[in-house]
Amino acid sequence: MSLDAGNNAGRVVILLGPPGAGKGTQAVRLAADRGIPHISTGDLFRSNIKQDTDLGKRAKGFLESGQLVPDELVLEMLFDRVGASDCGGGYLLDGFPRTLPQAQALTAALGAQSWASLLLEVPDDAIVGRACGRLLCRDCSNIQHSEFAPPAKEGVCDSCGGELYRRSDDEPDVVKKRLDVYHDETQPMVDYYRDLGSLVTIDGNQKPDAVFEDLRRQLDGGLSPQSRGGQA
Ligand code: AP5
Ligand code: MG
Repeated sequence: MSLDAGNNAGRVVILLGPPGAGKGTQAVRLAADRGIPHISTGDLFRSNIKQDTDLGKRAKGFLESGQLVPDELVLEMLFDRVGASDCGGGYLLDGFPRTLPQAQALTAALGAQSWASLLLEVPDDAIVGRACGRLLCRDCSNIQHSEFAPPAKEGVCDSCGGELYRRSDDEPDVVKKRLDVYHDETQPMVDYYRDLGSLVTIDGNQKPDAVFEDLRRQLDGGLSPQSRGGQA
């Protein structure tokens, strides 16, 4: 079965994985491929912090220290975003849910709407190198890497010519904290999807193009649409 707009209108894709697993890298391509919006809670928080909104002020300390933002702030922001008209034909979630209560709230909100959950698996030792070398564009949010996706010209985005910068939470000690938080607080949420019988795991420790093809293949053929309670 293919995941085209005709037979899967409204389908929600949930992309899970540890920090630095490649969720953002894959989500940009996958969302463009499917014609659905890419919604990253991390990007939403960083945008609020940049604009110095009330939400940004409340979230800033959590991001800088590598801790999770409290569920009530995350849920309010997320449901406000996915309630927008561009999400009516489905959307791709990156970095949400992150806790069991977030996953349960999403399941309740989706009701009978179809969804698919995919987990990018990458070992911890590969993650630290990925996050610590990450470079982001200030203008177009393109994601590069000093070693694995090096810019043609140092400090300049290959996509749009914008300035590349490093995220403040990509310092090695904060990355390690984020990994600890993932194992302690996010792993139970991953188990929740596994227990529903609806989790598809993807080897994220391959070249980006190979990861993308695996994701596409699963969404196009190997993955049954899920709805509330893990029913097809
Ligand atoms: P968020 O922005 O979601 O960060 P994260 O989950 O820690 O994930 P990252 O964005 O670091 O990694 P990624 O998987 O997107 O990897 P990427 O594609 O960039 O969250 C940040 C913070 O916001 C959290 O710590 C928390 O405080 C808060 N927050 C967000 N959502 C929340 C929620 N739901 N609840 C509570 N708090 C929340 O790739 C990484 C690097 O690797 C790049 O340089 C890339 O070029 C490279 N790369 C990618 N793929 C490959 C590959 N296959 N091979 C080699 N290199 C690769
Ligand atoms: Mg990301």
